[in-house]
Amino acid sequence: MRERLPQITQEALQSIQIARNLEDLKNTRVRFLGRKGLLTEILRGMGNLPPEERPLLGQLANASRQEIEARLSQREMELKEEEKESRWKREALDVTLPGVELPRGHKHPLRQVWEEIEAIFISMGFEVAHGPEVETDFYNFEALNIPPDHPARDMQDSFFFTEEILLRTQTSPVQIRTMQARAPRLPVKIIAPGRVYRRDDDATHSPMFHQVEGLLVDTGVTFGDLKGTLETFARRLYGPGTRIRLRPSYFPFTEPSAEVDVSCTICGGQGCRVCKGTGWLEILGTGMVHPGVLQNGGYDPEKVTGFAFGMGIERVAMLKYGIDDLRHFFTNDIRFLEQF
Ligand code: DAH
Repeated sequence: MRERLPQITQEALQSIQIARNLEDLKNTRVRFLGRKGLLTEILRGMGNLPPEERPLLGQLANASRQEIEARLSQREMELKEEEKESRWKREALDVTLPGVELPRGHKHPLRQVWEEIEAIFISMGFEVAHGPEVETDFYNFEALNIPPDHPARDMQDSFFFTEEILLRTQTSPVQIRTMQARAPRLPVKIIAPGRVYRRDDDATHSPMFHQVEGLLVDTGVTFGDLKGTLETFARRLYGPGTRIRLRPSYFPFTEPSAEVDVSCTICGGQGCRVCKGTGWLEILGTGMVHPGVLQNGGYDPEKVTGFAFGMGIERVAMLKYGIDDLRHFFTNDIRFLEQF
């Protein structure tokens, strides 16, 4: 037994030294100091020794035990430290590495054109007004001189909720709403961009599309003001060389009415596929506000005059970029959208 003791101690110390991790170390502790451990067995076997040998062997065994315990806790600290360090290495964050770059989006081309149009009119002193997309028949049609049986309603096939309530087919109802809110103050000088809805769906029509309405009411507003304003707008939007042309037309809420063409944005007026060889592109409807409309807005047509206009944002954008199918705007194809 006396010979076994140093041998076991030596074995234990070696086993502690080569323990690779805390798990190894725990097994070593059990193997030597556990309830059935090798050293424990020696201590237990002391009862069988002659009494005179017991104290010495007891001392030696206790010394071994203490040494083993001491080495165990030292090694435990070392291993804990090692594990901490290797975990740091595994989880380390190198702040000098280049970051992951997230793809940056940008505004939808329609939104870009919308904001461009707004900016041009704001620079000319117009305010931006808004109205509801769910409208009443009164604001969408009647107050704009379009009575129930008026043929102009056929041009704007509508989504009705009830006989009285529909999705607005145009931004023109904002004219009435704004005048009613402002009357009798002057001037009324607004644009009203927003979504409109019609039962239409093909390469140049979408059931939902966007318009910008314009309205200027004041004393002494003339057709010359109308033309100058729209010419300035067209040049700012399509470039300084842009010319405009007014053709007589008809809208129930203006008198006289006109359609405005701009010299072709693609060929500059020479004639091309986009302008179908004419050199001109139609971009908006306009006219002097009809006296009845002024009256419905709460203004006295004997005292004030005004002009109004309306344009489709999709159309303006298509002509600006030479896009041939309006449906591209709404199909969310990133290959299309990334071009703007
Ligand atoms: N609201 C008309 C449409 O949707 C466009 C329009 C034409 C608006 C002439 C106007 C205007 O304000 O004066 O077809």
